[in-house]
Amino acid sequence: MTVLRSRLDTASPQFAAGREAMLAKLAEIGAEHEKALAGGGPGYVDRHRSRGKLLARERIELLLDPDSPFLELSPLAAWGSDYPVGASVVTGVGVVEGTECVVVANDPTVRGGATNPWSGKKTLRALEIAEQNRMPLINLVESGGADLPSQKEIFIPGGRLFRDLTRFSAAGIPTLALVFGNSTAGGAYVPGMCDHVVMIRERSKVFLGGPPLVKVATGEESDDESLGGAEMHARVSGLADHLAEDEHDAIRIGRRIVARLNRRKAGPAPAAVAEPAYDAEELLGVVPSDLKSPFDPREVITRVVDGSDLDEFKPGYGTSLVTGWARLHGYPVGLLANAQGVLFSEESQKAAQFIQLANRADTPLVFLHNTTGYMVGRDYEQGGIIKHGSMMINAVSNSRVPHLSVLLGASYGAGHYGMCGRAYDPRFLFAWPSARSAVMGAEQLAGVLSIVARESAAAKGRDYSEEEDAAMREMVRNQIEAESLPLFLSGRVYDDGVIDPRDTRTVLGFCLSAVHNAPVRGTDGFGVFRT
Ligand code: COA
Repeated sequence: MTVLRSRLDTASPQFAAGREAMLAKLAEIGAEHEKALAGGGPGYVDRHRSRGKLLARERIELLLDPDSPFLELSPLAAWGSDYPVGASVVTGVGVVEGTECVVVANDPTVRGGATNPWSGKKTLRALEIAEQNRMPLINLVESGGADLPSQKEIFIPGGRLFRDLTRFSAAGIPTLALVFGNSTAGGAYVPGMCDHVVMIRERSKVFLGGPPLVKVATGEESDDESLGGAEMHARVSGLADHLAEDEHDAIRIGRRIVARLNRRKAGPAPAAVAEPAYDAEELLGVVPSDLKSPFDPREVITRVVDGSDLDEFKPGYGTSLVTGWARLHGYPVGLLANAQGVLFSEESQKAAQFIQLANRADTPLVFLHNTTGYMVGRDYEQGGIIKHGSMMINAVSNSRVPHLSVLLGASYGAGHYGMCGRAYDPRFLFAWPSARSAVMGAEQLAGVLSIVARESAAAKGRDYSEEEDAAMREMVRNQIEAESLPLFLSGRVYDDGVIDPRDTRTVLGFCLSAVHNAPVRGTDGFGVFRT
């Protein structure tokens, strides 16, 4: 065993300040999570209950195996937008009859469960996770369809939802629809496209056009039940495979369907699990309150991996990036973690080699971000930093083993890409409350804009006001700072959620289990490395 010894001084003022800052951010994010949990607020929740209906999260809880965890995804979607936090849908990964599934549940207490642009992004992200990791997809449907005032943002891209459902079916990824209420117009294609459909007597309503529309279109007099009731679909149209008596019965039938899917995980099973030697509680104080101060990511690794055991790769070379092999909840992983913030040529080459080795060994990779990006300056340019950064990005892009990313601190510029940022398809990506991500730091960005404006004024022979420059810099700095924060980025579904640092091991373990539903196989087919 090569146990990483912690050198964290938990009695130091720096630790105390970092911990305090982290707890303050967690409280702020917790308050936003509360908003998502509250759905449409007490009025709509009470009305929903008075109709004898369960809430979206209650449906999920009953669907999952008793006392099993649910990894909720994108709970902060729509934060900072005109739509309620959570985006009228609950998504996540949970275990049903011993099978890990992706669940998508409309929240009917938020604008009738209608899909707004953020619900669309969040739902499609959940579908992507089901597809990449080959997990069955269970839709708990009760929705007013497209949010009509924002239809222009949803109608065209939203078609992908139905396309994906049927492609999943073709790819052997089972799809279920348990219809708890309204699933009309475009929404009717969710049960239409799913492999398995359960409807509930006197509750499910599935039609292309309701009675008023039919009356206008054809003059025909009709009612909800004959147009799209569960009984009609179970006995007449054949759209429903199962007729449930009530919500509990529908969930029971849904669980039986999953039990009969005969799913077996394709990836190797985990080895025995050893807990880390250090307390996860201490992760609260690892990141300094000011991100400009570096921190040793080994202090994170030793509190996250099995037995705090890490075999470092090239520990003396490219020391600003820690690379090494470990196990996490029994699964083998390769870790890449930024140490001093900046990526140089050596770090980039080391990363490219390490990623190739992980692909040879069919080993998933975990990226722990705290980088300000690739080094700039004459010496570095002449030393080939573009070539070497490209090499690392090439390796990350073409690697075929599953990648998991966690933004611990900074994740700026092309460093975000090289460390497997969102556009590089990590199977899951989470942020700590201390994370920041943008094209560059707010201070640097404001400084660059100021130099460009100053030079532009000089070229035109105009005066340059120092006072206006300071005001502009201040404004830009505040804007970029706000747009780099985890709440903002999570709101735009650029991550899968903001997590408490203390939960990192559990979340990564859960994700590693999820990725092993699909085969875990590396590649040797990388692009041309410019050496
Ligand atoms: N777009 C935008 N807002 C919608 C909406 C939609 N598709 N569906 C419902 N809402 C809003 C309602 O206007 C209402 O807002 P308010 O409380 O501020 O007045 C709120 O959501 C709740 O709707 P309500 O009708 O009171 O809830 P309900 O539970 O009694 O009925 C539906 C829910 C979905 C059955 C009903 O609202 C409905 O039929 N909506 C339209 C469905 C439709 O035709 N969609 C087009 C699909 S492409």
